Amino acid sequence: MSTIKRIGVLTSGGDCSGLNTAIWAVTFSAISKGWEVYGIENATDGLIVRPMRYRQLKMTDFDFPFARLGGTMLGTNNSGNPNLLRKADGTHEELTSEQILERFSDGVKELGLDALVVIGGDGSMSIVSKYCQKTGVKMVGIPKTIDNDAPATEEAIGFATARNIVMDALDKLDTTANSHERIMILEVMGRGAGHLALESAIAGMADICLIPEIPYTYEGILKKLRDLRKRGRDHALMVIAEGIRNPEGKHNFSIDGRTFTGVSGWFVKHLSAEPDKFNIRSTILGHVQRGGAPVAQDRILASAFAVHAIDLLEKGLTNRVVVCRDGKISDMLLEDVLKIANTPVDPNGEMVHVARGLGMYVGE
Ligand code: F6P
Repeated sequence: MSTIKRIGVLTSGGDCSGLNTAIWAVTFSAISKGWEVYGIENATDGLIVRPMRYRQLKMTDFDFPFARLGGTMLGTNNSGNPNLLRKADGTHEELTSEQILERFSDGVKELGLDALVVIGGDGSMSIVSKYCQKTGVKMVGIPKTIDNDAPATEEAIGFATARNIVMDALDKLDTTANSHERIMILEVMGRGAGHLALESAIAGMADICLIPEIPYTYEGILKKLRDLRKRGRDHALMVIAEGIRNPEGKHNFSIDGRTFTGVSGWFVKHLSAEPDKFNIRSTILGHVQRGGAPVAQDRILASAFAVHAIDLLEKGLTNRVVVCRDGKISDMLLEDVLKIANTPVDPNGEMVHVARGLGMYVGE
C-alpha cells in the first residue's frame, strides 16, 4: 500500500484546454487522501533550475475562474531543446544532460516528493520518463494532446475542446462560403496526424478533408469541386490537416522547422488559377485550437485520468501511464507505452467510413 505523503504535479509539452482541470483534479484527489501537492512550474524546468520553481497547491488556488480556462497555471515547455531551461527571472541556461539528471534528482529529494504526476504529450512524457528512470523517481503519466495520436489511449486531454473549436470555425466560415459562393479552406493542427481535421470536418459538415494518412490527388479535389458546382452548390468547405504534403510532395514547415504551417496557401494559389474561376480563401486556425475553456468531455476525461493516477499511487503502483481503452480508464506500464508508435487515423476505420459515406472527398 501507499507510503505517499507528498507528490509533485507538472504539465509538459504544448498547452491545451483541460490541463488546469487535470491539475485541479490531481490536487483535490490527493488532498482528499491527506497528501500534500507541489505544483512544479514550467514542466521539469522547475525542478532543474536554481532557484527551483514550484509552489504548494492548496484547494484555494482554484478559487478563481482562471482554473476553469485553457492553458496551464503551472506553465509548460515544448522547446525543441530539453537542455535549454528558462529561469524565474526570464533568463535561460543550457545544461549538459548529466547536470540535468543530477539537479532533477536533487530537486525531487529537496522537495521530499514521493512521486510525480506528469501531464504531457508523448514527446515530453518520453523525456520526463527518462529523467525518472535514470534517477529512480516514481512517476505516473496522464496523456494530453489536441492531435489525439498519443500511443495506447483512444483519447487524450485537449482533443475534444480543439475539435469543438474547429467545428465552430467551420460553422462561421460557412456563412462567408454561402454569402460569397466561395471555397473556404481551413488549415488545422494535428502535426502528423489527421484525427482533429477528420473529426472536425465531419462535425463541421465539410466537403473535402485532406489528412496525412490518406493520399489524395489534385485532380480528385478538382473533380469534387466541379461535381458540387454541377449540383448547384457553388461553395465548399475544405479542411486541410497542417501535416499533409502539397501535391508536389512537399511539407510546409514553420520557421523553426519542427512544426507545420501554411500548406493551405498552395491550394489557394493553384485552385484559384484554374479556368473554373473558383473564388477561394484560406484560414490557418493555429493556436486558437489550443485555447479557451475546456468542454465538458475534456473536463470529465481530465478528472477521470487524474483520479485514476492518484488511485495508482495509493496502491503503490508507479511508472505507469493512464489510458482510455475501449471507453474505459485503465493504465499501462510506461515502458510499454513508450514502445508504441503514435496512433494515426486508420484509413479503413470508422471515421473515414463516415466521411466517405457523407460524400466527403478524403483522398483516394
Ligand atoms: O502537438 C500539438 C500541436 O499543437 C500540433 O498540433 C502543432 O503542430 C504543434 O503542437 C505546434 O507547436 P508549437 O506550439 O510549438 O508551435
